[in-house]
Amino acid sequence: MIYKCFSTIVSNFGAPHVRRLAVKAIRIAALMTPAEPPSSLRREVMGLTFPSPVGLAAGFDKHGELYSSLPPLGLGFVEVGSVIPRPEPQRSQGVDEVVAILSQIPRPHPIPIGVSISMNRNTHPDQMVDDYLACLEKLWKYADYFAINLGVRTGPDLHMEEHAGTLRKVLTAAKASRTDLARITGLRRPMAVKIDCNRGDTTSLVACVQEYAFDSLILSGYVERGKERHALEGLEQVIKSLDGQMPVISVGGIRTPQDAVDRLSAGATLIQLYSGIVESGPLLPRRINSHLSSQLVGS
Ligand SMILES: Cc1cc2nc3c(=O)[nH]c(=O)nc-3n(C[C@H](O)[C@H](O)[C@H](O)COP(=O)(O)O)c2cc1C
Repeated sequence: MIYKCFSTIVSNFGAPHVRRLAVKAIRIAALMTPAEPPSSLRREVMGLTFPSPVGLAAGFDKHGELYSSLPPLGLGFVEVGSVIPRPEPQRSQGVDEVVAILSQIPRPHPIPIGVSISMNRNTHPDQMVDDYLACLEKLWKYADYFAINLGVRTGPDLHMEEHAGTLRKVLTAAKASRTDLARITGLRRPMAVKIDCNRGDTTSLVACVQEYAFDSLILSGYVERGKERHALEGLEQVIKSLDGQMPVISVGGIRTPQDAVDRLSAGATLIQLYSGIVESGPLLPRRINSHLSSQLVGS
């Protein structure tokens, strides 16, 4: 409640300030009261163990600095990044900075670390594959899974039909590199692809990811308040089209414990939070965990 009041006031100063407030609140909450998720919420997905199906979405912890604060909040995983090869002001400090931070985190990781990888804004389409591969190679040892981010709103966007050829090149190269890196290092790393339903043609993008048989699909989308039912229907449609071939991680518009129950009941295997944490504060994952365990959703 107190957090919500603060965040409403701070939101008048703009999104970066609200996120900074959320980061401070996370660090404080993590020190105060560890909230281990009930063991009934544990899930095995992509060959990894998730203590809770509730994770932190990409974009929040860009470089992995927040990792040690996240398990005490009851979060079951985090997606660090999106990571890009070279630093870009106001976006990311680049892959070498992320390597420096993640390499300091001791294993075994209490919660899986996904790393979302992307490309620099000024990368020519012919070189986009190299951006993804550079991030994969440098971070292979430190991630538990990878998520391929198809692009940014104000930069190159592989969701779009005009980039369909490049998208296929990226997906092909990522899978080949996964095989090579697993052979060279002896480390297996599952890979997900993130599709934003508000960009490009979701049906053909989902079909494309399915064709390449990635380990999971992250389905994201902006959800207006009051349009939650519509988002659920979209999720159900995609899950039906996948016919059990790939688990789905749902993200976008999960603001309350009931939203979380609805997504998991619709068939999502895991869920991720971004705006919900910014708006409601760091105790949201714990509230979701208790609601989920009382509802005994999936297992
Ligand atoms: C400020 C901001 C930065 C984001 N950065 C990334 C990013 O780097 N990579 C990514 O895959 N998604 C990014 N996202 C998208 C979120 O991961 C998530 O998919 C989206 O915000 C929908 O979830 P929400 O409704 O809970 O906010 C970002 C979102 C926001 C608001």
